[in-house]
Amino acid sequence: MSERFVTEVLSKADTEFDVSLRPARFSEFVGQEKVRARLELFVEAARGRGDVLDHVLLFGPPGLGKTTLAYILADAMGVNIKATSGPVIDKPGDLAGMLTNLERGDILFIDEIHRLQKTVEEYLYAAMEDFVIDIIIDQGPNARSVRLNLPRFTLVAATTRSGLLSGALRSRFGMSNRLDYYSEGELERIIGRSAQILGVEIEAEGALEIARRSRGTPRIANNLLRWVRDYAQVKADNRITRAVADQALVMLDIDENGLDEMDKRILETVVFKFSGGPVGLNSLAVSVGEEPGTIEEVYEPYLIQEGYLKRTPQGRVATDRCRSLLGVKPQGPQQSELL
Ligand SMILES: Nc1ncnc2c1ncn2[C@@H]1O[C@H](COP(=O)(O)OP(=O)(O)OP(=O)(O)O)[C@@H](O)[C@H]1O
Ligand SMILES: [Mg+2]
Repeated sequence: MSERFVTEVLSKADTEFDVSLRPARFSEFVGQEKVRARLELFVEAARGRGDVLDHVLLFGPPGLGKTTLAYILADAMGVNIKATSGPVIDKPGDLAGMLTNLERGDILFIDEIHRLQKTVEEYLYAAMEDFVIDIIIDQGPNARSVRLNLPRFTLVAATTRSGLLSGALRSRFGMSNRLDYYSEGELERIIGRSAQILGVEIEAEGALEIARRSRGTPRIANNLLRWVRDYAQVKADNRITRAVADQALVMLDIDENGLDEMDKRILETVVFKFSGGPVGLNSLAVSVGEEPGTIEEVYEPYLIQEGYLKRTPQGRVATDRCRSLLGVKPQGPQQSELL
């Protein structure tokens, strides 16, 4: 099986399949208990006052439910949601067009808000705070600024790279929520729910096997489930047992820890190229051909949480767990790990 195919299966986002599995209400949203409880209360309070929901920022690694929560918020508030994304809004006029089309209470969802242009971001400040937008009409000597009043709206913004947001933007959100990786138990529940929607029979052990290899991420869990379902359909009477899940995932070259290609490349680079570290973020980034910020905010959190990497003041260091994964003899504690 080609690597390309594997990558596509794992990264396919927001396909029709994905959308049908997306929970539509808080009651269907598994895990992230704290975030969910806070948002539910936020909604209840706003609704109780007949008020518009304050702006909400959602951040965390890909595939953990940011977009899903934006839609759930709209459903819970009983308002419309218009979705766009940072890089798509390339001039202030685009933003003005979207904002003036909203009705009171509507949600504007801006995905990848860290990729918003600086000039657009500045317009957004006034829109978020004072619900006005100043647009320049005409050019040259006739140019003048016209102030448009906007309906009171809610901005729900999502980002995988919260470190790139300016303090000015961040401070304009009434609430910020960080989503974290899901536990195996939570992923097992998500897989069970998805299997039911897809009408495929799955044993608890089969669901757990998929959960263990899903990198703490519901999107990956659903994508793996789809693949295992296909496998079960062709090879195993449509029934997903632990053995069937295992065979299907082996065929896809999914590591039994669920690490993906980039995870492995990062770990191998630290262990083999930098003799286990410490290695600085920038050198690591150049070696694996990825941006430092993406490594820091998308890949590393999972590798650190799972105990493969450590962050020290000198740089990233491979742990014994990482060495044993790569089949290298453990080194025992190093100077840098003791600091
Ligand atoms: N808490 C959850 N319970 C059940 N399913 C979930 C949950 N969170 C996410 N999912 C599933 O995972 C898929 C991906 O989630 P979503 O698109 O919301 O992630 P995201 O954080 O917006 O990712 P990205 O940063 O890539 O945009 C959803 O379509 C849904 O099927
Ligand atoms: Mg999303």
